[in-house]
Amino acid sequence: MCGIIGYVGAEASDRPLAVVMEALSRLQYRGYDSAGVVVVGEAGLAHAKKAGKLDALEGELAARPLQTASCAVGHTRWATHGGPTDRNAHPHLSQDESVAVVHNGILENHATLRQELRAEGVEFASETDTEVAAHLLARAYRDLGNLPDAMRAVARRLEGAFTLLAVAADNPKEVVGARRTSPLVVGLGQGENFLGSDVAAFIAHTNRALELGQDQVVTITPTSVSVTDFAGNPAPTREFTVDWDASAAVKGGFATFMDKEIHDQPDAVRDTLLGRTTPQGRLQLDELRIEESLLRSVDKIIVVACGTAAYAGHVAKYAIEHWCRIPVEVELAHEFRYRDPIVTVKTLVVAISQSGETMDTIQAIRHAREQGAKVVAVVNTMGSTIARESDAALYTHAGPEVAVASTKAFLAQITATYLLGLYLAQLRGVMFADEIRGVLEELDLMPAKIQEVINSEGEIRALAERMKDTRSVLFLGRHVGFPVALEGALKLKELAYIHAEGFAAGELKHGPIALIEDGQPVFVVVPSPRGRDVLHDKVLSNIQEVRARGALTLVVAERGDRAVLEHAERVFWVPQTPTLLAPLVAVVPLQIFACALAGAKGLDVDQPRNLAKSVTVE
Ligand code: AGP
Repeated sequence: MCGIIGYVGAEASDRPLAVVMEALSRLQYRGYDSAGVVVVGEAGLAHAKKAGKLDALEGELAARPLQTASCAVGHTRWATHGGPTDRNAHPHLSQDESVAVVHNGILENHATLRQELRAEGVEFASETDTEVAAHLLARAYRDLGNLPDAMRAVARRLEGAFTLLAVAADNPKEVVGARRTSPLVVGLGQGENFLGSDVAAFIAHTNRALELGQDQVVTITPTSVSVTDFAGNPAPTREFTVDWDASAAVKGGFATFMDKEIHDQPDAVRDTLLGRTTPQGRLQLDELRIEESLLRSVDKIIVVACGTAAYAGHVAKYAIEHWCRIPVEVELAHEFRYRDPIVTVKTLVVAISQSGETMDTIQAIRHAREQGAKVVAVVNTMGSTIARESDAALYTHAGPEVAVASTKAFLAQITATYLLGLYLAQLRGVMFADEIRGVLEELDLMPAKIQEVINSEGEIRALAERMKDTRSVLFLGRHVGFPVALEGALKLKELAYIHAEGFAAGELKHGPIALIEDGQPVFVVVPSPRGRDVLHDKVLSNIQEVRARGALTLVVAERGDRAVLEHAERVFWVPQTPTLLAPLVAVVPLQIFACALAGAKGLDVDQPRNLAKSVTVE
């Protein structure tokens, strides 16, 4: 989704443009297909924009340098209305070039407004919805005489999701932003201030940030930040400190962000566990600001999420139902609100999201809250919309996840939902304290176990290299191995662009086994033989069923499970873990395999085609 950065400093210099271009580089992971910048200095407003990646914009700036300035705004666009062309790239200027605007989101009433403006003689230069805002803003600026009032007047007329940043040609010391649903956060500097679609935009310059609420307008100058609602009333703000630094958002010597983030996983789990238990082994989730009496009365949990986050929810279902004996439904967020779900005041909705900005999930939690449910967000991005619009946020501490394909956030999401389940069990008295302590002690061992799997990555990479021409891979799993199989398939689809499908192993004989032919690679996630042995034996049978039909059986199994050896072409061993915690190690070979195979094919591992890191449109 679009990346946005705004900067205002005290003196006219080259710094504003440098800050903005560096931020756009850091925001590339959000996925984009054009980019642009606008600067304002004593000489007024100047801009540059180009379709393609940032290097195209850099080429344009080299050919036609912009003047020095004291404020600048930058944008990377992920095309929604109008193709990825130079003229559809942001910023968009008003006809008189008095104001420039960048936008993230969709203005749902842009057609009506476009007709109104055309009737007044406005000529449009692009096919975008955003350009409507530029013309409306110029008209309001002329009428009201200042950009904040003009922005408030325009924002009140807009429908849909938007983050807008605007500058005026005659005021180089001010950047004005407005947000409804789409992300925007303020960076607080010394003699300079920032606006960004997420903290990665300005983390290189400050770790002090202000989160913004719904329907707010923010005005930054070199020495001030003011926030109001769309009516102009001052709005409360909350300052927070970003708990990671710019170095965390760079590759750290790895070939790709995804490689780095796979290796970050032990820390992601460890940091998500940190500080959430007492020395006596009791859970303390201070951030879970929902009345304990209500949590005790919860009679159903609904997880809403998309993609990998939804698969984390599937893992959570097995654990929470086992520990708490509360029914857990896992719903794809984009399906949830359209199926008339049964939601009551006793329903606890858990929204899982790395970015905290996935529009499908945002809309799902809004629907849930309208139905009277309490919502807990399990998110990785502080100050994000889902965190702010939920009743409580249980943060994952995976650090910035830059690669589009989620890895460390997935493990952190699973870890956080385990903690939520154990907390509910503790509160409702359905598990003994020593049982909870036992699970927590096992969880504390998981970072080292994950590291053990990562250390064996060489053999997985070698297999991927040999299989780089494969056209289809199937993934099987049972119980918590089933969502692991789904996630392994998704990783391969989104990274290597090949057909991959995850199945519940028991489902195979009900149709999918027809897919098995000679040489068909099939990954099988085998549950611990120390858990439910019937489960283990069933999966062994499934391996034999596919192998008998020619499948290439690639097995993920617990170290010491010698029963798999006779049925597997290759075995990827993972450390012994309790059944419910196994996904934290079982998924790692599948992540490494997909990352390595995509690399072997020479594909863009961090920014796969057609994908965005955060899907901020429905
Ligand atoms: C996972 O690798 C994908 N990038 C995608 O499925 C992602 O998990 C999904 O879009 C949800 O994103 P979120 O966690 O930011 O809400």
